[in-house]
Amino acid sequence: MKRIAVLTSGGDSPGMNATIRAIVRSAIYEGMDVFGVERGYEGLIAGEIAQLNRRSVSDVIQRGGTILKTARSEKFRTDEGFKMALNMLESFQIEGLVVIGGNGSLRGAIDLMKAGVKVIGLPGTIDNDLPFTDFAIGFDTAVNTVLSAIGNVRDTSASHDRTTIIEVMGANCGDIAVYAGITGGAEIVLIPERETDMNDICRILIENRNKGKMSSIILKAEGFSISTDALKREIAERTGLDVKMVILGYIQRGGAPTAADRLIASRLGHESVRLLKGDVHGKAVGIVGGEIRAFDLEPALEMTDTKITDLDFLTDILSS
Ligand code: F6P
Repeated sequence: MKRIAVLTSGGDSPGMNATIRAIVRSAIYEGMDVFGVERGYEGLIAGEIAQLNRRSVSDVIQRGGTILKTARSEKFRTDEGFKMALNMLESFQIEGLVVIGGNGSLRGAIDLMKAGVKVIGLPGTIDNDLPFTDFAIGFDTAVNTVLSAIGNVRDTSASHDRTTIIEVMGANCGDIAVYAGITGGAEIVLIPERETDMNDICRILIENRNKGKMSSIILKAEGFSISTDALKREIAERTGLDVKMVILGYIQRGGAPTAADRLIASRLGHESVRLLKGDVHGKAVGIVGGEIRAFDLEPALEMTDTKITDLDFLTDILSS
C-alpha cells in the first residue's frame, strides 16, 4: 500500500493532533504518501484532500483540537453524499484510510469498509464510549480538565457551605463522571448507566451535613436521566440546602493533551500505518491492558463495555 489518508470526525478530542502526527511520520518512514482530509466526512465529500509531509505536523503534538478540523456530516448519510465520498477516494487514488473519531464516526468507517474501502478506525473521543479500548484518545485530558474544575469549585463550595452540581460531558456514558468523581473525591456521581433515586441523593446530602460535611460536590454526566437545572431545584426544595450548578461544557474538549493521551495517540497512530502497510484493514485499534489490540471493526463496536460498571461501585464506598 503506497497512498493513505487520514481524517478526524465527530467531536474533537485532545490528542487527535498527536495521532495525525504519528500517522504522517510513520507513513513517510515506511515510504508511503500520506494525505490529510479536512473536516471529516464533510471534507471528504468536498474533496478537501491534500498531501502532507513531515513539516505538516511540526509543533502539533502538544496542541488540542485537530489541524485537519472535524465535522458531523449529515450529507455522508445520504446515498449521494456517500457515493461522492467514494468517488473522491478513487480520484485521489487513496488506497487506505484512517478514521479517528467516536462511535458515529467509526460506524461511518464501517459503511466505507463495506463499500470496499480499506479502513482502520482509531478511538478519538473524550466520551471514552468505545468498548474495544480501555482508553480513547482525549479521555485522560478531559478527566484532568474536570479534575482541575472540581478543585476550584470545591474551594468556593466549602467557603459557602454549598452543594454544587458539576455537569460533565458524556452524551450517553458516564466515563468522565466516574473517573473524575473518584479522583476528585465527589460525594455523589450520577451517570446514565445507573438509575439513582432522588430520595437517595437527598438522604446522602443530609447525612453528610449531619456528619459535619457542610459542602458536597455532585458530579453529573450530561446524559443522566434528569436535567441539571431540574436536579438543582429538586434538591434545594427537598433539603433546604444552598445548591449551585456548573456546566463545564466545551472546556472539556480542548487543552494540551496529557502525556497519557499523547502516548496512546502515538502508539495507535503508528500501529494504524503498520497494519495498512501490511495490507491489514477493516480493523479498530485500541489499547487493552496496556497492549495494542486490533479488532474486526464492526464487531468491535458491539462488544460489551463494562469499564464503568466495574468502577462505579467505588464512588459510593470512597465518598461515604
Ligand atoms: O462526543 C463527544 C461530545 O463532546 C459529547 O460528550 C457531547 O455530548 C457532544 O460531543 C457535543 O457535540 P457537539 O460538539 O456537536 O455539540
